[in-house]
Amino acid sequence: MIQHIFDMPTMHDAPSDPCLMVIFGASGDLTKRLLVPSLFNLYCDGLLPEAFAILGMAMDDYDDEGFRAKMNADVRAYLRRSGGFDEEAWGRFSANIHYQQGDFDDAEAFRQLARQLQALDARHATSGNILFYMATPPSVFNMISSGLHAVNLQDSENGWRRIIVEKPFGSDLASARELNREILSFWREDQIFRIDHYLGKEPVQNLLAFRFGNGIFEPLWNRTHIDHIQITSTEQVGVEWRGNYYDKSGVVRDMLQNHLLQMMAYLCMEPPTSFEPEAIRNEKFKLLSAVRIMDPDEVRRDTVRGQYGPGTNTDGTPAKGYRQEVHVNPESNTETYAAVKLRIDNWRWHGVPVYLRSGKGLKTKSTEIVVQFRRAPKFTFRGTPAEEQLEANQLIFRIQPSQGIELRFLAKRPGPSMHMRKVMMHFEYEEAFEAQPGTGYETMLYDCMRGDAALFSRSDLIETSWRIVQPILDVWGAEKAADFPNYPFGSWGPKAAFDLPKPGHRRWLARAQMQAIKRVPMFEGYGRAMLNDLAMMLKPRVFNAGDEIVRFGSPADELFIIDSGEVEIVDSKGRVRTKLGAGKVFGELSLLVTKQRKASVRALSYCCLYTLDKGDFARMLKDRPEFAERVMQVARERYHVIVSADELIDGEAVQAEP
Ligand code: BG6
Repeated sequence: MIQHIFDMPTMHDAPSDPCLMVIFGASGDLTKRLLVPSLFNLYCDGLLPEAFAILGMAMDDYDDEGFRAKMNADVRAYLRRSGGFDEEAWGRFSANIHYQQGDFDDAEAFRQLARQLQALDARHATSGNILFYMATPPSVFNMISSGLHAVNLQDSENGWRRIIVEKPFGSDLASARELNREILSFWREDQIFRIDHYLGKEPVQNLLAFRFGNGIFEPLWNRTHIDHIQITSTEQVGVEWRGNYYDKSGVVRDMLQNHLLQMMAYLCMEPPTSFEPEAIRNEKFKLLSAVRIMDPDEVRRDTVRGQYGPGTNTDGTPAKGYRQEVHVNPESNTETYAAVKLRIDNWRWHGVPVYLRSGKGLKTKSTEIVVQFRRAPKFTFRGTPAEEQLEANQLIFRIQPSQGIELRFLAKRPGPSMHMRKVMMHFEYEEAFEAQPGTGYETMLYDCMRGDAALFSRSDLIETSWRIVQPILDVWGAEKAADFPNYPFGSWGPKAAFDLPKPGHRRWLARAQMQAIKRVPMFEGYGRAMLNDLAMMLKPRVFNAGDEIVRFGSPADELFIIDSGEVEIVDSKGRVRTKLGAGKVFGELSLLVTKQRKASVRALSYCCLYTLDKGDFARMLKDRPEFAERVMQVARERYHVIVSADELIDGEAVQAEP
């Protein structure tokens, strides 16, 4: 979980205001994994004020010492600071941690809290400022607010009072409105900080810096130059121990409504007039309000849902399906995967679809944003090989696990004729900046203590984002998914998601994994440059068991690499010739020797395949004589076909030896 980069403080980063921080739900997961490690990071970086103390409150029975000992063990386990755990710093920091046992529905507990806070304020000289952190389920927000209200702790006459509210903020539009109404009956809007931890990630914050601090991109940032946008956030983990929560939630509530829409707002909003919180929040609100609300038919057409079934963990051991997870209904209709096409009805983005997808139980953990530009017109290159080689430029923001920006564009391949090849420029955070690993919560906590609400959601923003996903929740809630589970744990997700960006030239960006390419014997031993080229050319395709992948006699226009699953090759008479599994390649012979497929191929199980299309294949043959040699060798061994290097490179038909 801890993977974000927390920038080193600079001369301009002054410690935040003196304050007391009260954590409700202090014995829970969030406190130990994220909150206290983040506060300790801030302390070590000199960003906490001298006058600062923490008071944890929960039902568990600890005294101050016991709670400090627990936090000590937890912070050691979850802290990722380079240089390790600083004992001395912890000693000083932890002297300011306190604990009070209490029930959130007990009025006496809140009276005691008020007395305790008064004493701590005097002891730590925190100027009456108090930050309340609701690290609790939303069902008790109201109870806590009302308890605080009863002892007047929301009153900011002597020092400021703020609350941080964790997600989920409601479970649909109606409940989010109700929650806003309840919270706003106790607190003013400017006291409420609704947190979305994705906005604490440096590369997400950098979206604004990148867009508005660089003069060259803004003129291109519109429907004239951009074809479409993709925002993907995939996770390897399943629901783990969170079945109780997740089975009522699903990925649309858990990831799309908040994290993905927040990133989309940053990427697509108009330039704010300043970096003042309200200026940014106004623009985000305007952008999300312009997202077209789908009708039920559009939901059926423009969304795909998935649920993982049994599959394989990264270490090769079997993994449970979602319906077998603890606290999950064995007939659950909850989605663990979603892909959605959205449209933004404003002048800048009209006609530019935004594709969002997210899921659990997938092959990789990765969050990326792809901005795909329009392809250059071909006519300039008429009569040259480049005419068929033009591809759209892509600007890729890598949010995690690696963090950086890539620009993919075409370059002329050295040689006498006009051949083009995709190349890339990239920026890596790790190379450019000296940084400390953080949790992503540091910036959010620091900003809140300074009263800067730019990274937090206002009530109107929350409601607008629920409004966008509500039709999806309605249709998916009313219509049971007939095909669940529809992807195995550890795979690429449901087949239908791969068809969502079509028709035409649109495809999800595939970041072919090096290990998947390296295990293909045909590519064994190649250097990094060649493997990188290949990784950029490969396109993902998914098939379900029983699907015909290749039909006998159909045009031969791509080569297939099996990433997972099993296929069978069937000859023209319907006889099964062979079965192939992960790491194997098929379809190359037809590309080499005929214009049509000489066999059919059927998926025996759910299969994840990479395809290398004819043009790229021919380019690889031309650019890399050693690759041509490998292909000839495979042709000789597997099909007894003799192919000469010239014929290969010219793509001419050769005679097959049965
Ligand atoms: C949380 C979701 O908000 O984000 C989790 O509730 C999810 O289900 C997590 O795993 C992902 O966060 P990150 O930072 O690991 O991408």
